[in-house]
Amino acid sequence: MASKGILLFFTAIYIRTRNTNAAFVNVECQAENVGQYGQQSLLQCVVKTSQDVVDPEIRVVIWKKEGVEKQVKNNPLLLFNRGEIKLKPGYSFAEPSWNVRNMNVSLLITNTAVEQEGDYTCTVITNSGDSSSSTSLKVTAKYNKPTIHSNPETITVNTDVTLMCDSDGGYPKGQLRWFDENKTEWTKSSQMEAKLTESGLFHLSSKLSLLKGSIFTKYTCKVFNASGDKEEEATFEVQHATGSLGNFTATLSDLPASKIVAPVVVIGSLIVGLLVLLALLIYRKRSQQARRQSTTPLMGDHRGLPTRDYDDGDHQERDQTCQVSQA
Ligand SMILES: *[C@@H]1O[C@H](CO)[C@@H](O)[C@H](O)[C@H]1NC(C)=O
Ligand SMILES: *[C@@H]1O[C@H](CO)[C@@H](O)[C@H](O)[C@H]1NC(C)=O
Ligand SMILES: *[C@@H]1O[C@H](CO)[C@@H](O)[C@H](O)[C@H]1NC(C)=O
Repeated sequence: MASKGILLFFTAIYIRTRNTNAAFVNVECQAENVGQYGQQSLLQCVVKTSQDVVDPEIRVVIWKKEGVEKQVKNNPLLLFNRGEIKLKPGYSFAEPSWNVRNMNVSLLITNTAVEQEGDYTCTVITNSGDSSSSTSLKVTAKYNKPTIHSNPETITVNTDVTLMCDSDGGYPKGQLRWFDENKTEWTKSSQMEAKLTESGLFHLSSKLSLLKGSIFTKYTCKVFNASGDKEEEATFEVQHATGSLGNFTATLSDLPASKIVAPVVVIGSLIVGLLVLLALLIYRKRSQQARRQSTTPLMGDHRGLPTRDYDDGDHQERDQTCQVSQA
């Protein structure tokens, strides 16, 4: 019996010396975990044991967050000890019915918040040794579709305009970028501001100043996340309040009845005007013909038309005709 025990002891020593640096028990964690704001996050850690460890059993599990001194000492996020699990609200074992033989000691965060971003440590004590490892959590939140408004709200051809783009609910800090309808970027002419809101999420706002007479009519504001991927976008159409030229590019069917009536009235009065002018011209021509007839010698006596302006000429002509008749 004693010899068997001694043999086991020496075997153990042999294994230990053979794997000088290898631990019997090792907590292995995923280096980085990504969690979505408001969703569940998983901090993945599993206990790995060397082959010679038979029937490993977990005695203690401690999950704590780095940099929170008080909590580290007195109140970890998760503590399993003497067969009892103590949890802070919002944390639990990822495995729903975890037990001492389950080597998956991953931590589940039920409702991820920005302040939960950081480094975590998981410490495990087993019947065959203990180990500790760290893992980090990165939190992300998608930005909402941007909204754009102009200042002033009513744009005329002669005003300088500022476009304001806003997008919130995102994390980490993202970027707002401006493009015209020709896909040319205008971000360099804009100014962006990022504000942290109470929830720890960012509110981005960007100002783009347009000079009066700017040729583009559509501006798109796109929100990019921290890794430079586009998340959402919105487009603003610049409509000049007094830009009457624009009306005529629309087809008649697009226009409401009131807008059709006005051109009809205008065109109608133009036609009437032309007719009146034509009538006047015809009248004048006739009257000229009548006057010319009145200047012929034979019709002399019939001069009854108001041709006062030409009276002098008429007299001369008449004198001449008299002279001719006398000759
Ligand atoms: C640990 O358990 C969680 C929850 O069941 C699971 O999602 C995860 O994949 C497990 N990890 C490993 C390494 O098995
Ligand atoms: C849009 O881009 C095209 C080619 O890139 C260019 O020829 C055109 O002038 C641009 N339009 C405006 C309004 O700048
Ligand atoms: C940015 O968006 C891409 C695509 O949706 C996503 O894969 C990536 O994780 C996001 N990055 C961040 C920091 O949110």
